[in-house]
Amino acid sequence: MKVLSGIQPSGRLHIGNYFGAMRQHIKMQAENDCFYFIADYHALTSSPAPKDLADFTLDVAMSYLAMGLDPEKTVFWRQSDVPEVTELAWLLSCVTPMGLLARCTSYKDKVAQGISPNHGLFAYPVLQAADILIYKSDLVPVGADQKQHIEVTRDIAGFFNNTYEEIFVMPKDFIIESVAVVPGIDGRKMSKSYGNTIEIFEPEKSIKNKVMKIVTDSTPVEAPKDPEKCNVFALLKLFASDEEIKQWEDKYRKGGTGYGEAKKRLAELITEHFKPFRQKREELEKNPGYVKETLAKGARRAKAIAQVTLEQARKAVGLGGYYGK
Ligand code: ADP
Ligand code: TRP
Repeated sequence: MKVLSGIQPSGRLHIGNYFGAMRQHIKMQAENDCFYFIADYHALTSSPAPKDLADFTLDVAMSYLAMGLDPEKTVFWRQSDVPEVTELAWLLSCVTPMGLLARCTSYKDKVAQGISPNHGLFAYPVLQAADILIYKSDLVPVGADQKQHIEVTRDIAGFFNNTYEEIFVMPKDFIIESVAVVPGIDGRKMSKSYGNTIEIFEPEKSIKNKVMKIVTDSTPVEAPKDPEKCNVFALLKLFASDEEIKQWEDKYRKGGTGYGEAKKRLAELITEHFKPFRQKREELEKNPGYVKETLAKGARRAKAIAQVTLEQARKAVGLGGYYGK
C-alpha cells in the first residue's frame, strides 16, 4: 500500500497528534511504502510569523525522526520543496464546485470561532487533495477531524477522472476510532490552534503543570465518579496498561479517590512514555544540518513522483500543447 499523511508545522507536536496520527505513521512504515510531509503551505493559511513557520517546520521534523521515522525507508519532506503540488491544486480547483468546499466543517468551525477566512483557508481541502493525489496514495492515516477532507479528495478525484482521464487513484482514510479525538486540557479536542495541548517533548515539570490544570467537574473526593465523563481518565486510557485502567475505573466508581491523584499518575505515565525518544531528539537538536539534509533528500524523491503525475494531469486538461491550426 502507498500510505501518505501530512502534519502542519503550526506549533509543537502534542499527544493528540501522536495518538491520532503519528503513532500509526511510524508503525505503518514496516509494511508499506510511506510518504510523510510537513504541510507548511497549509500552515500559511493561519498567517504564522515567518520565523515561527521555519522553526516549527524543523521542530516537527526533529520530533518525527526522534519518534522513529526512518528516512531511508520512508519518503519524508517539506511540502513547499515540491511546489508541483500547488499547480496540481489549481487544476483540481477548476473541477471543484464551491459548494463542496463551503460544506467543509473544519472551514465552517474556524469561521464560527471568529477567524476571518482568507481564500487559502477556503481552498485548503483542494491543496490537501493535490497532496494525496499527486503521489497516488491508497491510504491516509489521520485523526477523525480529517475524515471529511479525504471524502472531498475522493470527490475531486472523481470529478477530474470523469471530466478528463482516469489519472487518479481513490484514496481511503485510516482512522483508529479509540484515539480519533484526544481531548485537550480544557476538554475540547486537543489542538495547536486551541492552546490546550500537552506537548510530546515539553519539560517534565511543564507536563505536570498542564496535567494538573486539566478541567474536571467538582465532584468531591469521597463521591463516586463516572470515568467515561472525565478528561483525565480519557488520557489515562491512552497511557496505562489494561490492568491499571481497570483499577482506576474501580477507584472512580467507588469514590474516595480525588482527580488530583489520577492527574499525578497521568503526568508520570506521560513522562515515562516519551522518555526513550528524548535522547534521540536532543542529539538531533545538536545537528540541524542533518535534519535539513534529510528533508532535502526526501524532497528529491517526492519531486520525481510529483512531476510525473503533474505532467499527466497537464496533458489531460490540454495544457502545454497546441491543437488544430
Ligand atoms: P492541530 O489540530 O493540533 O493543528 P494538525 O491539524 O496538524 O493538528 O493534525 C495533524 C494530525 O494529527 C492529523 O492527522 C490530525 O487528525 C491529528 N490530530 C490532531 N489533533 C488530534 C486530536 N486531538 N486527536 C486525534 N488526532 C488528532
Ligand atoms: N489537513 C491536515 C491536518 O490538518 C494536514 C494535511 C495536509 C494532510 N495535507 C494532507 C493530511 C494530506 C493527510 C494528507 O491535519
